[in-house]
Amino acid sequence: MRFSSPACCLLFVAFSFLAANAIAQGNGRGDVTDERVINAAEVEPGSWLTYGQTFKEQRFSQLTQINTDTVDRLGLAWTRQIGDYNMRMQGTPLVVDGIMYVSNGWSVVYALDAVTGEEIWSYDPEVDRSYIRLACCGPAHNRGVAVYEGKVFVGTFDGRLVAIDANSGEEVWDVDTWIPAGLGRFNITGAPRAAGGKVYIGQGSGESGHRRGYVTAYDADSGEVSWRFFLVPGDPSKPFEHPEMEMAAQTWGGEWWKYGGGGTAWNSLVYDEEFNSLYIGVGNGAPWPREIRSPGGGDDLFLSTIVSVDVDSGRMNWYYQTTPGDNWDYSSAMDMSLGEIEFGGEMRKVVLQAPKNGFFYILDREDGELLRALPYTDGIDWATHVDMETGRPVENPDVVYEVEPQWIMPANSGAHNWEPQSWDNDLGLMYFYYHDIANFYSLDEGFVETGEYEIRERGLSLGWGEGEYRRRLIEEAGPRPPSQAYIGAFDPITGTYKWRHELESDYNGGVVATRGNVLFQPEGTGDLSVRDTNDGELLWRFRAPGTFRSTSVMTYAIDGTQYVATMMNGNRAIDLGGTVLVFKLDGDHPLPIPEIVQAVVPELPDDVYSLEQLREGDNLYHAQCASCHGGIGVPNEVAIVAPDLRLMTLDTHSNMEDIVIEGSRAQQGMPDFEEAISAEQLESIRAFVVEQARRLQEYQQQNQDAIEAAANEEALNRA
Ligand code: HEC
Repeated sequence: MRFSSPACCLLFVAFSFLAANAIAQGNGRGDVTDERVINAAEVEPGSWLTYGQTFKEQRFSQLTQINTDTVDRLGLAWTRQIGDYNMRMQGTPLVVDGIMYVSNGWSVVYALDAVTGEEIWSYDPEVDRSYIRLACCGPAHNRGVAVYEGKVFVGTFDGRLVAIDANSGEEVWDVDTWIPAGLGRFNITGAPRAAGGKVYIGQGSGESGHRRGYVTAYDADSGEVSWRFFLVPGDPSKPFEHPEMEMAAQTWGGEWWKYGGGGTAWNSLVYDEEFNSLYIGVGNGAPWPREIRSPGGGDDLFLSTIVSVDVDSGRMNWYYQTTPGDNWDYSSAMDMSLGEIEFGGEMRKVVLQAPKNGFFYILDREDGELLRALPYTDGIDWATHVDMETGRPVENPDVVYEVEPQWIMPANSGAHNWEPQSWDNDLGLMYFYYHDIANFYSLDEGFVETGEYEIRERGLSLGWGEGEYRRRLIEEAGPRPPSQAYIGAFDPITGTYKWRHELESDYNGGVVATRGNVLFQPEGTGDLSVRDTNDGELLWRFRAPGTFRSTSVMTYAIDGTQYVATMMNGNRAIDLGGTVLVFKLDGDHPLPIPEIVQAVVPELPDDVYSLEQLREGDNLYHAQCASCHGGIGVPNEVAIVAPDLRLMTLDTHSNMEDIVIEGSRAQQGMPDFEEAISAEQLESIRAFVVEQARRLQEYQQQNQDAIEAAANEEALNRA
């Protein structure tokens, strides 16, 4: 099934010529207009002008130079490290007029020569790194920038939206997107979108205390607020900000506004010039259990919803809620693509989304009509199906974690999360990766006992219980069901896969498919793989000296050469994270060789601790520290963004009070716990950490040979 079309190649040359012309006539850098984006797929397929390539966010490329016949010749064109060694990079680079615009986890923006990787300028918004306390997953999720009318826009880790001059790299304006009505402060993780003279941005941090989501539209020139659309209603004794909130308030119960409710728009915002609208993908509820968040409530609008808003007025056109009364962290903030699909002989303009909950939605863009909602995975426990009469999922009456804590699929990480998808509108196929992973769902111990739930300002406020309590429930429930990730070509009308293959790692990156019949995907194993779009067979694979968990990939062309770009993550054992990798045919740039850092437990204090102390330490550690330092012995923990405390030196042990209670490392993102933790409690935490470190040390001593052999092999593989 090799495919190579001369017509495509001729077109490719013509396109390149046009693109080169556009540069010559350009009025300076970053000269992206609405018209240019709208015509990009035809006029300049070598560019990547917005987060999802064009306004339609299909991420399907017309480029054909790298195809099923030539892919064997792929090699590195250039690499550039732009982030910290342990930084997880998830952004999509943009390429406009030969310049690549990328951002790293601390929201630092780089303009690079897209042919050589040379830096043209960089801009550091100098984020307040203590905001790490609000991040679910560390300084990891800057998904990219917007380039528009001579400016580059970035949403920052500490909640600002900054406009940068695309020519000079100088700041033009800088606004704080936070307002008190949103309750606590936010990180921004999503890429801004710019269109219709405005820049649109939401926020993250849904689980970091009291949060209430909203999206703001700013004037692209001045940074003035044009409109703001709230996604969760506030205290009903106060005036509602806009009429949609009055309606939404009818669907909530209890005193939800005390918790904030969640509903942050942390990723997907899609502009549609055909209906002058912005589709907002709304996140999950917070705390997760609806019994805590909204007792006696209903659907809890607009959690886990796709909302269409008129971009001029900021008023709602329509909404569709994928998970009414979200109870599982089933965000609907995943990427959306716009397409056209024939239904019963009629072309419908549709929005396509595979949110976390396991169903794939096709909605009419004009009125939000539900056209299809079929499962894209077999791993759906929480609901049996979506009823097309009511347009609602039918919850499984046998899977109720409030009654019986249990493993449920999809997990809170979703069957499909933010990793980008690629839509071939001609074939009506969506290429994407998903995984079947179960999460253990339970209710907070204190809430079960007293009916009260205290939300925490630091760390994650999930409402599902922690530490010893949670571990006991999990032990009683039995082992986690096996997990498996897949890559496939999905037909959302029939709910079937043209092909589907298992992936080695459970966590992988997004994809891009091309007219050259190839599908690119960075995988969690550290492989950039290329598959045949016809059958998904693996054609080529590159082993990178890092990992590609949750990264994205894009392709562009300059002067007749096609490139593929992705961003490599490091981890605490690899010294090369935060690196842009760019490939082309016959590329022979040398692979950077990482330094592998081996984590060995150092000498430990020989104190003796009581069982009671260890138990208290376990609970306190998991309540206050695990969200950043990682859970120890509890499955399915969030990413580790701070040092593994089991590796602390004796010196650090003796400085612990300074660090934790006095806040001596606050500038490095280690918050002070002066009000939250007493010196005695800290000693219990230290006891728990030492106890855990002793176990790890014992394991390392017993398995020293095997660990060394594995490290050597790893080093060889990656060198
Ligand atoms: C919001 C995230 C966050 C939370 C929550 C957090 N830490 Fe930290 N912690 C960090 C970061 C980031 C660092 C690294 C700081 C640096 O680079 O010096 C750190 C460093 C430390 C260190 C120094 C470790 C070393 O080997 O140098 C100690 C000790 C520590 N944390 C203890 C705690 C304890 C105990 C808790 C819970 C009571 C806690 N941390 C909660 C983010 C966090």
